Amino acid sequence: MKLLVTGGAGFIASNYIRYVLSAHPGYRVINLDKLTYAGNLENLKDIEASDRYTFIKGDIGDGELLRKIEFDAIINFAAESHVDRSILDAQPFLQTNVIGTCSLLEIARQRGCVFLHISTDEVYGSTPEGAFNEASPLLPNSPYAASKASSDLLVRSYMETHDLKAMITRCSNNYGPYQFPEKLIPLVILNALNRKPIPVYGDGMNVRDWIYVMDHCRAVDAVFHNGATGEIYNIGSRNERPNIEIVKLILRKVSEKLGLNEGDLMDLITFVKDRKGHDRRYAIDPAKIERDVRWKPEMDFEKGITKTIEWYISNKEWWQRILTREYMEYYTTQYGERLKT
Ligand code: NAD
Ligand code: DAU
Repeated sequence: MKLLVTGGAGFIASNYIRYVLSAHPGYRVINLDKLTYAGNLENLKDIEASDRYTFIKGDIGDGELLRKIEFDAIINFAAESHVDRSILDAQPFLQTNVIGTCSLLEIARQRGCVFLHISTDEVYGSTPEGAFNEASPLLPNSPYAASKASSDLLVRSYMETHDLKAMITRCSNNYGPYQFPEKLIPLVILNALNRKPIPVYGDGMNVRDWIYVMDHCRAVDAVFHNGATGEIYNIGSRNERPNIEIVKLILRKVSEKLGLNEGDLMDLITFVKDRKGHDRRYAIDPAKIERDVRWKPEMDFEKGITKTIEWYISNKEWWQRILTREYMEYYTTQYGERLKT
């Protein structure tokens, strides 16, 4: 099997490629990635020499390039993925998440190959109670979520119109090694290690369902092998937590690692102006994947957070290089302003 994995230099897909190469010794992986600010080939340093792995720098929207690549199936992780950036400028989100996905669908249709589309629980929007299942309406609230919902609908249209063999997964919030430090969990860990203010949006009571990245990778692999084409699968961990609880947990654990008193880092918590259109609560029901694909998350949340903190402590060079790049400019405009309020 020759898998075309898109966005493989990002957080989740780099973990996924590492997983696939070790779980399926007969598989080859081609990683197609544009290397945006979020793409980092250092995420794959340990496997880059493997003769079963090939990297191609390119855009998923480049149809001419896609026609030159040989593969048997596509797993599409590539996306603009950060909600705050989509609020500042929605255009790149539409370009990659919608138009780019359309180019991949076209080549998959021409080749008649399987297309697994990695989507998100954000497409369902927010709910004060209960949990969304795969038949729930799509009510995205941020430009990021709207672009992902649009791509899901395009995938559906290719299945209906062209009989494309496709599947869609919708996962909740991931955390773990190699996550770009603009997202909540790595941001809190690094700001704690660097004694910087930790911006908590609004009242800190927004709720997310957190899943360890390797559990998500196993779920994607299970759907690829055991899922039914034409189907959508929610991937969640039944692990809902308000943001402030996560922040305090991380600060307690980082203090412990650094030999500080439990409360020593708590003063870093800084409540800031809320994200525009901030979804209050995401909640999905993962019963279908558990029942039909026989997958379950394995990582206990506290253990996963400890493992993640340890990874960031032992991989200082990885994040120090990121913090000196263009990201700092964005960070200063985005958070510098908020921290003043
Ligand atoms: P990420 O931002 O860390 O990585 C995205 C990768 O895509 C980067 O390597 C980037 O260079 C690449 N990319 C962007 N535009 C491209 C283009 N036009 N052509 C080729 N490559 C391009 O993202 P992530 O957090 O790893 O998310 C991966 C996927 O999973 C996304 O589709 C996202 O919507 C979805 N998802 C993420 C989460 C989460 O919590 N992070 C949860 C559910 C679903
Ligand atoms: O639910 C899945 C989605 O999870 C994915 O589709 C997205 O790609 C991914 O970025 C993530 O979106 P969120 O907006 O939920 O993640 P983020 O880490 O940006 O924020 C998590 C919560 O923490 C959210 O309620 C906003 C809040 N937050 C975030 C940051 C970066 C803060 O309070 N302070 C912060 O500095």
